[in-house]
Amino acid sequence: MLHQDTQQPSVDPQQRASAVTPEISVIIPTYCEADNLPLLVPQIDRALGELSSKVEIIVVDDNSPDETVMVCERLASDFPVRLHVRKKERGLSSAVIAGMRLAKGKLLLVMDADLSHPPEKIPELVAALNDPNIQFVIGSRYVTGGGTDEDWGFLRYLNSKIATWLARPLTSAKDPMAGFFAIRKLTFDQALQQLNPVGYKIGLELIVKGNCRNIAEVPIQFHDRMHGESKLSFREQINYVRHLKRLYEYRFRNWAYLAQFLSVGATGMVVDLLTYAALLLYLPTGWARALAIWVAMSWNFLLNRKLTFSYASKDAVLRRYFSFCGSCAVGAVINWIVSVSLASIFPATTAHKLLAASIGIIAGTGFNFVLCRYVVFQDKNPSRDSPEHAVRASEKDESPADDG
Ligand code: GDD
Ligand code: MN
Repeated sequence: MLHQDTQQPSVDPQQRASAVTPEISVIIPTYCEADNLPLLVPQIDRALGELSSKVEIIVVDDNSPDETVMVCERLASDFPVRLHVRKKERGLSSAVIAGMRLAKGKLLLVMDADLSHPPEKIPELVAALNDPNIQFVIGSRYVTGGGTDEDWGFLRYLNSKIATWLARPLTSAKDPMAGFFAIRKLTFDQALQQLNPVGYKIGLELIVKGNCRNIAEVPIQFHDRMHGESKLSFREQINYVRHLKRLYEYRFRNWAYLAQFLSVGATGMVVDLLTYAALLLYLPTGWARALAIWVAMSWNFLLNRKLTFSYASKDAVLRRYFSFCGSCAVGAVINWIVSVSLASIFPATTAHKLLAASIGIIAGTGFNFVLCRYVVFQDKNPSRDSPEHAVRASEKDESPADDG
């Protein structure tokens, strides 16, 4: 059915050449899409109809080993296609960012090359940005009227749902993982300094960093790719979790660090109790308790260094380890002082003593957290999210993969 597409452009290329600056830039990241582009580009052109004279199509290719570049050059003689080939970088997110930076249009629309996204919905997505209150428009699978092809197995569906659910505190959008979306160039320019995606959820990155709170979702039917294959990989799932961590830290700052710190603490408690139980088989209580505490403390140190405060430079491990132990000791002393002094104020029942101890634990943990965040794992390089660094970091990302 796709072959019905006439290769004839809807606007005479000559006429188009003299056209004014494009108003809309359609950005298509590609990697090995030689089979799909010749179908997609005419479809886009036809779907745009009258709008077509106001559009540029920017293809950002990462030097695909197939014939994508050649195919694209051929298409450029009939359609308003601009090709940008990157020879050094690789990655969907950074390709989209590169395309957006090159775009001349005031409105930017991003879509996949593999015919998963219906071009006939482009006018609707773009039109939604006519409303000045709307900051971001998604071609959405998960609003009424939208959907995915049937052969999406249950696992892929579940995977996508869980990924969406994990992003819930960051955005109320129903389909923030979508690769089919529209945004104003202005919003992108304002967010550019902050962009630092890992993996390929560039839409979510733009929603968060562009501070897009008002999002419109246009229902679409998502089709499985026709030609070639998606790069579904476990590694991309890990990248997604790393990306989420970054976004949570960006949006929620110290609350995100505290949540991770407390989670690590909870695992440390389990390690402590298990070790204690094991050691009691061989050692007297005093020694077993002391050793278990030391094991749990070291466990907490390693996890906090690797996860919670992963921004902290990797050097000075020993110095950080000893200051971490010191910080835990200070936390313990504060815990003790608060618990004991509150217990002496409260009526002397056991329940009140436990309440006092709970407040002591909170005070000690809070103090420990602040010490860890600002002293033990001090951020020696807080400027690493500078524009240069951010974009360069995002360019290091490798291929995209699975669905969200
Ligand atoms: N330039 C460039 N560089 N483009 C790339 C790269 C890369 O390294 N890797 C993939 N692309 C292009 C592909 O050529 C395609 O046009 C688009 O990015 C999406 O790649 P797919 O491999 O087809 O991804 P997917 O189908 O698994 O994921 C899509 O659907 C997801 C939702 O189900 C994407 O749209 C995701 O962003 C989206 O989350
Ligand atoms: Mn795809």
